[in-house]
Amino acid sequence: MKQRIKIKNVVLGVTGSIAAYKAVELLRTMQVQGWNVHVLMTRSSTEFVTELTFRTLSRNPVGVDMFGNPEKWAPEHISTSELADVMVVAPCTANVIAKIAHGIADDLLTCTVLASEAPLVIAPAMNVKMWNNAATQTNVKILKSRGVCIVDPGEGDLACGYQGKGRLASIEKILSAVKACLKK
Ligand SMILES: Cc1cc2nc3c(=O)[nH]c(=O)nc-3n(C[C@H](O)[C@H](O)[C@H](O)COP(=O)(O)O)c2cc1C
Repeated sequence: MKQRIKIKNVVLGVTGSIAAYKAVELLRTMQVQGWNVHVLMTRSSTEFVTELTFRTLSRNPVGVDMFGNPEKWAPEHISTSELADVMVVAPCTANVIAKIAHGIADDLLTCTVLASEAPLVIAPAMNVKMWNNAATQTNVKILKSRGVCIVDPGEGDLACGYQGKGRLASIEKILSAVKACLKK
């Protein structure tokens, strides 16, 4: 008898980093795995990549605002959190890392993360000084201590003109972290 394969639902959070355009490639790579990807964007991230791009490629509605007129009765931040087999925030800003570490839920993405029981993968991307800042490092430690999978940023030339750690990890590294979470 043929077994029905359950399609994995991935919620992909995109934040206001210059690396936001790389989330488009990440989405495409996730789709190649056969995953259904639902994108949530922070308002800042829409300065870098459009909602239209993610909506068209993901073939799903994209969430940005919480207080719009939802298509379903269920509040969006709760319904999206419930469908996730895994949540991935890539790229993740220093700001969103700080918010998640401290339970701040002041937009659709951070509310959804707080309401979700799914495993969480975070791929930070930022300027090297922002990454090395004691505040960011403490926030990353807090998240790791709670079992959040942090895909460490890579080293090299940064878009801001600096050199050092802060580049978004490769798509392959992020994908293998997500796969590891889905296996658990
Ligand atoms: C051109 C530009 C690039 C930026 N890149 C980053 C980045 O890579 N990482 C980061 O943490 N913040 C970056 N920022 C700052 C964030 O956009 C800012 O902290 C914003 O409030 C983040 O909002 P969000 O975390 O809600 O997406 C950048 C800002 C600008 C103007």
